[in-house]
Amino acid sequence: MDDKLYNRTIEFLSEQFKNDSSGHDLDHTLRVSRMAVTIAENEHADVSRCELAALMHDVDDYKLSPDTEAEHRNARSFMNRENIPDEEIEAVIHIIEQVSFSGTDTQVPDTLEGKIVQDADRLDAIGAIGIARAFAYGGAHGRKLYDPKEIPENHLSKAEYRNHVSTTVNHFHEKLFLLKNMMNTETAKQIAIHRDEFMHAWLDEFLLEWDGRNQFR
Ligand code: ADP
Ligand code: NI
Repeated sequence: MDDKLYNRTIEFLSEQFKNDSSGHDLDHTLRVSRMAVTIAENEHADVSRCELAALMHDVDDYKLSPDTEAEHRNARSFMNRENIPDEEIEAVIHIIEQVSFSGTDTQVPDTLEGKIVQDADRLDAIGAIGIARAFAYGGAHGRKLYDPKEIPENHLSKAEYRNHVSTTVNHFHEKLFLLKNMMNTETAKQIAIHRDEFMHAWLDEFLLEWDGRNQFR
């Protein structure tokens, strides 16, 4: 993507995300687009299509913009204004329709570029950044960090996943630890293995501290 288009895209995204409290911030989108570019280069995919789709992937998210979700109106009108060819717009919309994780109803994208953007979005939910995002989300929703009495609930459908309330540590079992095995590309699998190990090590440490068992190491 050339510098001018990139700069106008950032301007558009800053406007879209300025009032957001759902965790769909500009920084997440920028991280996903950088990661999508990295994976696309490694997988010999269409790099600029992955980048554009990643940049557009959250602007019509149901939490951020429920009125435009179905038609992807925000993404479409921006790309139209920028004179992106119709074919490219349709390819980008096709990718973002397949990206989001919603419990067990989630789908495997049918294009390499879709798989890559989905991987990049999921990678941003795990590892050090993933931990930070989970607790930021938990704090914003008044959730407890952890509660040993609460048992994680797996295999939720889309509706159940959206309405489910639990502690942030449970979110690791219900979503974050599942993501490693849901990566589509080899490149993302490699990155996910490291991030997943890091999250497990972090949670082990957290639980030791919770029980007061690692005070004198
Ligand atoms: P996406 O970026 O794929 O649309 P979500 O909107 O599902 O992701 O979630 C945004 C961020 O908030 C992610 O990092 C996710 O792990 C985190 N998150 C979502 N639901 C919860 C939850 N119940 N507890 C803690 N973190 C959550
Ligand atoms: Ni996202």
